[in-house]
Amino acid sequence: MATSTQIHTRVLKCDPSSITFPISSDGADPPPKIDDPETLESLTVAARHITNGEPIAFPTETVYGLGALALKTEAAARIFSTKGRPADNPLIVHVSSLSMLRQLLPVDYIIPPMYEILMRRFWPGPLTLLFPSSPSIVPSIITAGQPTVAIRMPSHPVARALIALADAPIAAPSANSSGKPSPTRAEHVARDLGGKLEVILDGGRCEVGLESTVVDGLRDDGNLRVLRPGGVTVEDMQNVLDEEIESKETRPAVLVHRRDFQDAAMEKAPTTPGMKYRHYSPSVPVTLLHTSSSTSPPPAHASVVSATEFFASLGSSAPVPHPIITKIGLLVPSDSQLLRFAQDRESIEWVLYPLGAVADPAMTAQRLFDGLLTLDEKGVDMILVEEIGEEKEGLAVMNRVRKAAGESKWIAL
Ligand code: TXA
Ligand code: MG
Repeated sequence: MATSTQIHTRVLKCDPSSITFPISSDGADPPPKIDDPETLESLTVAARHITNGEPIAFPTETVYGLGALALKTEAAARIFSTKGRPADNPLIVHVSSLSMLRQLLPVDYIIPPMYEILMRRFWPGPLTLLFPSSPSIVPSIITAGQPTVAIRMPSHPVARALIALADAPIAAPSANSSGKPSPTRAEHVARDLGGKLEVILDGGRCEVGLESTVVDGLRDDGNLRVLRPGGVTVEDMQNVLDEEIESKETRPAVLVHRRDFQDAAMEKAPTTPGMKYRHYSPSVPVTLLHTSSSTSPPPAHASVVSATEFFASLGSSAPVPHPIITKIGLLVPSDSQLLRFAQDRESIEWVLYPLGAVADPAMTAQRLFDGLLTLDEKGVDMILVEEIGEEKEGLAVMNRVRKAAGESKWIAL
């Protein structure tokens, strides 16, 4: 039952490096080996809450998740009430082993060869695959009544150990109030959901920093459709398919939603990741600055302003002895050209959160949500985010930035 009473939230430390997963030769799943006593205690407490049907927060390699038993409707319902998540937005189910995956699938279902390849190469890891779902196995609260269920095997040792100790699949959306940026550190979860859940497992900073790639490979044409770009890049998937499937005729294409294919029915469905609801928004306005015309030529209606002109337009025009100070967050690459325009002015206080070098989109991915949340926490009045190229992790970065931004500006450098 959802209650509004405040819970005392405990943040329990875990050392991911103390956890290993023994491999058995007989196909059984031996329990994880946990060498650090504090980590063992934290995981044992968390697994007990999960088994009791309570939601807890835990680290994954992508973002922190808010997990509860996937196969128990009342437990899964508490995820929705804790986050304020709309009921028609389905959840990803997390497994710790292939035998646990098997238990979620219709008994006579044969996993397609393309999925076998992707699982062998990217699991455990930040890749979510859609599978046919049987309502007699996976409750409709998880799938929002859709015929498919989204499943992934996380690679973070704390996530995998938690699922293995609970010995049950765990449903987990990102551990943030609906509409906010996803948390990549335990502190982010504590600030947002503290008082609403018993336990937050603290396993440090998430390595990937953006959510998993959601892929649908169940369509008749045999191609892979990327519904949400994420931790596994389109280039990585295409490379693996090129390596493993020799014949070009039978090799599936990797198609990205809105880039390579449109689907009117899908656009309207809440199951399409991030289409229907407000997403990734801090409490202050976010403006996306397009700076490289090669990656995003301005649309016909857009006016392009010079960087000097744009920066001059920021801040207040109150007279100098009593200027109103505007605090502006800058979320830009460390080697951004824009930095030289963000100059000292009486009415502006700049707060910089560098996203790593332009040439390192994986670093930008890791830092984006932390940047939005950190600048928000520092009390800025607005956040300016600079675009990066949509290659590799840049595709997922720009997917999230577009959803976070209330407006876009085109800047000539
Ligand atoms: O990296 C991640 O995927 C993180 C961590 C915690 O694992 N989880 C996550 O969950 O990002 P969430 O709920 O924030 O995003 C899941 C996305 C949603 O946009 C949802 O629409 C989509 O996956 N999804 C879930 N089930 C689906 C289904 N059956 N068909 C299509 N999309 C689905
Ligand atoms: Mg989310």
